Amino acid sequence: MSESQVWDAVDAYFTGRLAPDDEVMAAALRNSEAAGLPHINVTANQGKLLQILAEVQGARQILEIGTLGGYSTIWLARALPADGRLISLEYDPGHAEVAVRNIARAGLDKVVEVRVGAALESLPRLADENPPPFDLVFIDADKGNNVHYLEWALRLTSAGSLIVVDNVVRGGRVAEAHSDAEDVRGSRGAIELIGSHPRLSGTAIQTVGAKGYDGFALARVLA
Ligand code: SAH
Ligand code: DHB
Ligand code: MG
Repeated sequence: MSESQVWDAVDAYFTGRLAPDDEVMAAALRNSEAAGLPHINVTANQGKLLQILAEVQGARQILEIGTLGGYSTIWLARALPADGRLISLEYDPGHAEVAVRNIARAGLDKVVEVRVGAALESLPRLADENPPPFDLVFIDADKGNNVHYLEWALRLTSAGSLIVVDNVVRGGRVAEAHSDAEDVRGSRGAIELIGSHPRLSGTAIQTVGAKGYDGFALARVLA
């Protein structure tokens, strides 16, 4: 077995025991596939991690940047109480349409709202509404804007909130200090902002599995 085949086998084993697909999750992935969405959703094990993080947070308000077909959205929203709220920002109207259907099928349309548009346009509008602080923010859109998304996340959270940034490892390319790849620059910018910001305490986890070698940054808002 190659190294990545081992990662797949372990991921499949953990998923089967710890995060097995139910009909709603399977349908969300089927619908996304049928609509031609790219296969860049979190894995089931990663979705379960997001759900557990939201539960540990006791999250009532969640913000997601980058909806795609709503797969990570459903994992996160399942951690919310009936009167909780998740706002997910998505640029592509076709992706948002698939997500809205998947979310309705999951019975989560009362708690989840998908907002279509470039997140950097939706975020100031959201801030103008003076929403209660988000307990968890999941940043998973265009990686080049990660620093901007973190800055908005800081404005929309309060002490104790958790910010999760997906895809900060990119097969190890994050260690390339002089890379001009947008995703690497975005990830490095995010890591450096987290490491230097007085209101943030952070770490990053490298992950392997069905989506290859990547990782998450986790930042706790201190004040
Ligand atoms: N969180 C999803 C995957 C998101 S993929 C999951 O794990 O299931 C990244 C998404 O970000 C894509 O749907 C893409 O259309 C969207 N995106 C890209 N640029 C964006 C932008 N500027 N504003 C909002 N969404 C954006
Ligand atoms: C890509 C985007 C993601 O959010 C992800 O988790 C994996 C891959 C991508 O754009 O390639
Ligand atoms: Mg991602």
